[in-house]
Amino acid sequence: MLRRGVVHRLATQDYALPLEVQEALCSPALVLYATKIRRNIDKVLAASGGRWRPHIKTVKCDAVFGMLLDAGVRRFKCATPREARTLCAALDARGVVDGDVLVAFPHVGPNLATLEEIRKATSVRLSVLVEDATPTSLDVFFDVNPGMDRSGAPLSIAADVLADVRRATGPRFRGVHCYDGHATRLGNSRSEWEPELFKVYDDLLRLVEPGDEVVTAGTPAMLSSLAHPGLRSLDDHTVSPGTVVLSDMNCEEQLPELGLEPAALVFSRVISRPTEDVVTADAGVKALAADAGHPMACVVGHPEWVPLKPSEEHLPIRVPTDARPHRGHPLYLVPRHVCPTVNLAENALLVDNDGDSFSVVNINARAHDLLRDPKITTLIPGHAPAYTVP
Ligand SMILES: Cc1ncc(COP(=O)(O)O)c(C=O)c1O
Repeated sequence: MLRRGVVHRLATQDYALPLEVQEALCSPALVLYATKIRRNIDKVLAASGGRWRPHIKTVKCDAVFGMLLDAGVRRFKCATPREARTLCAALDARGVVDGDVLVAFPHVGPNLATLEEIRKATSVRLSVLVEDATPTSLDVFFDVNPGMDRSGAPLSIAADVLADVRRATGPRFRGVHCYDGHATRLGNSRSEWEPELFKVYDDLLRLVEPGDEVVTAGTPAMLSSLAHPGLRSLDDHTVSPGTVVLSDMNCEEQLPELGLEPAALVFSRVISRPTEDVVTADAGVKALAADAGHPMACVVGHPEWVPLKPSEEHLPIRVPTDARPHRGHPLYLVPRHVCPTVNLAENALLVDNDGDSFSVVNINARAHDLLRDPKITTLIPGHAPAYTVP
């Protein structure tokens, strides 16, 4: 559950859109608040001492890549080929000469081939994760499984595999990657998960050689990772939270210390009043991600309102009987999990200059590529075109 203090701290006037803007805006709509995003970026940079390689799967759009670049960030993480292509294009378009993108996902097959093509067309240093001596022409980070059991070589056998990978890749070897996203499974708060994470980091350090970059930590593990004496003493250690840029209900609970502000909301409207104490908003699971549990959002300015089980386009909300909003009433919803929520939107309204300027931005790295090469028109050579490009 969201801490009471956090829900109560969010004020409608900090998020409300002017009436003229609301009149033009269909709902549900993703709204990005640029001033809050910049403040979050500054806080994470200050807390990490610049040792931050943000994962851009959270923000997925040029508009926010630009804010990170303006703040001096040059090293990034992403997951999909589409994110890699979009981010590299943004770095190239700005003439960034020291851009560095780690595709933090152990891609195979046509996805890996796509990344190799992207590498040929960019001046960005592009790396991928490997967990064995998979042949690739790209630079590589060795992925270690720290106990999350999702990807990477198990720590117990990592030393032997890593030696093979170092031999196979030579100067293309960049470092060691350890994503500890299971931190919240190790305890309820930082004081509980930190001792467990420190044991993982101690083991991880045994794999590191001079010149390696060591990449750890998403949002919950960030402060523990930055506090670990061995990691602190390395020449090149980065942490890689991404959610921190936009923050959300989960982020508020996992990293309360930084005072980050929710900076991406879903603007919604009351569309029905089905019972005395329930109103329904037009933001179901096709606008607000529901993967991270209940409630999937909270309503800015109304901490006592309780979002109930959503359906595809509906979000029923329990409200006090004497305060039922009318149909059409605007609602500002903080997602529990902002990253997949952003991915659901094609475009977002970007509010800038503390609410004085508004623009529509494209979430241009959302979703996934279908084909390795978008110019392919025939899927089986020699056969009739399997599809036609419009
Ligand atoms: C490999 C990897 N690195 C970094 C992150 C960023 O973590 P967070 O979403 O907690 O900020 C993620 C999140 O899924 C991830 O999978």
